[in-house]
Amino acid sequence: MRFDDKTVLVTGGSRGIGRAIGQAFAASGAKVMLTSRKIDALEEAAAEIRESTGNGAVEVIASNAGGIEEPERVLSETVSRFGGLDVLVNNAATNPYFGPLMGLDASRADKIVEVNLRAVLLWSQAAVRLGFQGGQRGSIINIASIGGLSIEPGIGYYNVSKAGVIHLTRQLANELGPQVRVNAIAPGLVRTFFARALWEENEERVSARLPMGRIGEPSDIAGAALFLASDLASWITGEVLVVDGGALVASSR
Ligand SMILES: NC(=O)c1ccc[n+]([C@@H]2O[C@H](COP(=O)([O-])OP(=O)(O)OC[C@H]3O[C@@H](n4cnc5c(N)ncnc54)[C@H](OP(=O)(O)O)[C@@H]3O)[C@@H](O)[C@H]2O)c1
Repeated sequence: MRFDDKTVLVTGGSRGIGRAIGQAFAASGAKVMLTSRKIDALEEAAAEIRESTGNGAVEVIASNAGGIEEPERVLSETVSRFGGLDVLVNNAATNPYFGPLMGLDASRADKIVEVNLRAVLLWSQAAVRLGFQGGQRGSIINIASIGGLSIEPGIGYYNVSKAGVIHLTRQLANELGPQVRVNAIAPGLVRTFFARALWEENEERVSARLPMGRIGEPSDIAGAALFLASDLASWITGEVLVVDGGALVASSR
């Protein structure tokens, strides 16, 4: 799959899944804009991607994905640097709370919604208005979670936000076709900083339960993102691609 002459914007692009997606698109010839909050981490990631792929068109803009003005600012800057946008990957997310829903306070609940759900709407609006040739052609990929398709303790409201991302994906696909395709990826447990509490001390036990026998690597999710953005997926919209090593079909042995 080649993405020469295409431009891709990835939120939460400095590490983990977002960085792997940026790396994979850069290796396939795309111009890549990475954004997340910390500029040092972004610059380091972009330098490593440029070095490892030989693709110099990897740039960064520091931004908080949950900010209301941020999508327009970053989209305008991306278009002025790269000339347009073809693919938006809404990947940034946060989870400031672990515990039962009854203990979650309003400010952390709002933060989860702002960064994980409202941002998907606002960045998609900005991409359509400013990036996708005035809404004429583009692809949006939202990183959801299998948590948005199931119930589990501890990260309940985060999972509610991811269920919202899945529904938002379907609604946007309905409203933006045929020019813009909108799809989601629902990862299972992936070896990243974000999820370390879930795998760091239990990797062997967690892996043994999965039909594929291992937890995910960020590159497992990047492959799915490339597929959904490519012409191979040109008749796929409003879909949720589960990439979880079989977690949702695992038995409880
Ligand atoms: N890892 C898993 O097991 C797993 C499973 C299912 C779904 N997911 C989803 O996959 C996506 C990526 O997660 P990950 O595991 O790759 O996490 P990660 O390794 O912690 O990376 C998160 C990225 O998002 C950025 N970020 C965090 N808050 C942000 C904000 N408010 N605004 C802008 N950028 C922000 C971080 O950089 P800064 O901190 O510098 O901003 C970093 O670049 C998320 O949507 C997550 O919900 C992950």
